[in-house]
Amino acid sequence: MRYVKLAGCSVPAIGQGTWYMGEDPAHRAAEVAALQQGIEQGLTLIDTAEMYAEGGAEAVVGQAIAGRRDQVFLVSKVYPHNASRRGVAEACERSLKRLGSDMIDLYLLHWRGQYPLEETVEAFERLREQGKIGRWGVSNFDVDDLRELHNPDCATNQVLYNPAQRGIEFDLLPWSRQRGLPTMAYCPLAQAGRLLQHPVLSEIAERHGATPAQVSLAWVTRENDVIAIPKAVSSEHVRLNAAAGALTLTSEDLRAIDRAFPAPTRKQPLAMV
Ligand SMILES: NC(=O)c1ccc[n+]([C@@H]2O[C@H](COP(=O)([O-])OP(=O)(O)OC[C@H]3O[C@@H](n4cnc5c(N)ncnc54)[C@H](OP(=O)(O)O)[C@@H]3O)[C@@H](O)[C@H]2O)c1
Repeated sequence: MRYVKLAGCSVPAIGQGTWYMGEDPAHRAAEVAALQQGIEQGLTLIDTAEMYAEGGAEAVVGQAIAGRRDQVFLVSKVYPHNASRRGVAEACERSLKRLGSDMIDLYLLHWRGQYPLEETVEAFERLREQGKIGRWGVSNFDVDDLRELHNPDCATNQVLYNPAQRGIEFDLLPWSRQRGLPTMAYCPLAQAGRLLQHPVLSEIAERHGATPAQVSLAWVTRENDVIAIPKAVSSEHVRLNAAAGALTLTSEDLRAIDRAFPAPTRKQPLAMV
């Protein structure tokens, strides 16, 4: 596994997402088992949010990390409509309860909303002083938003990034890189859609005895400042995602991906799901 420096911490370059977990009680045991398997195999960063299944995903994470909290770097997110001074404090309490933990390692503003950024940051700083969060960051922020935020304590920006969606490479990624701000890539497998059937990813995968999904993860995390958070419930997917931490693409592989999925040559609106 490769590691990324994030606000004084070392976190694995590949972690685990949890969107759509906690929706159906019939899937709960499999979701808990997948997260636990991931932790055992090195995917120790877990990304969740109060939004996912309206707290259901946090409850799944809470069950999965019970008794192994110290092995995990826990990320959760506050809804923009809760991002007021009081709303952040209350939302964080609810999240901590569902997570069965007294601290969230990294707490993110899920996307920008109605409240002034200074107010949300002040609330984050208060939580940090109280030891309820380790550090804070943002999600779905473009360069203008980060400029406006203008705060060196922001630990990461979580945005959409995969070989088929490279818009951030034009400006956001270089801007963040210059300032030492690590990026967290969501939907690194493009939600297991057509990307994973692409012949170029398949060819590269074959050369490495890997799968297209592993190639996508290795590509997303090819520099030392991007963390990918694939979501997987299937045990085989978890195993493959953990193993992708050891896959390094060659310059020939990277050129083939550039030809199939050209890097942006002009500013693109920030992609979101
Ligand atoms: N900040 C934001 O606004 C935001 C937005 C979207 C997502 N996120 C976060 O980012 C995480 C990842 O994004 P995502 O869940 O939307 O999409 P994703 O991780 O790109 O794709 C998830 C899909 O890929 C499948 N999969 C996982 N590993 C695989 C493998 N090795 N081979 C083939 N298929 C594989 C999963 O199947 P199984 O589950 O059946 O194994 C699932 O269907 C989310 O779960 C969430 O934590 C954040």
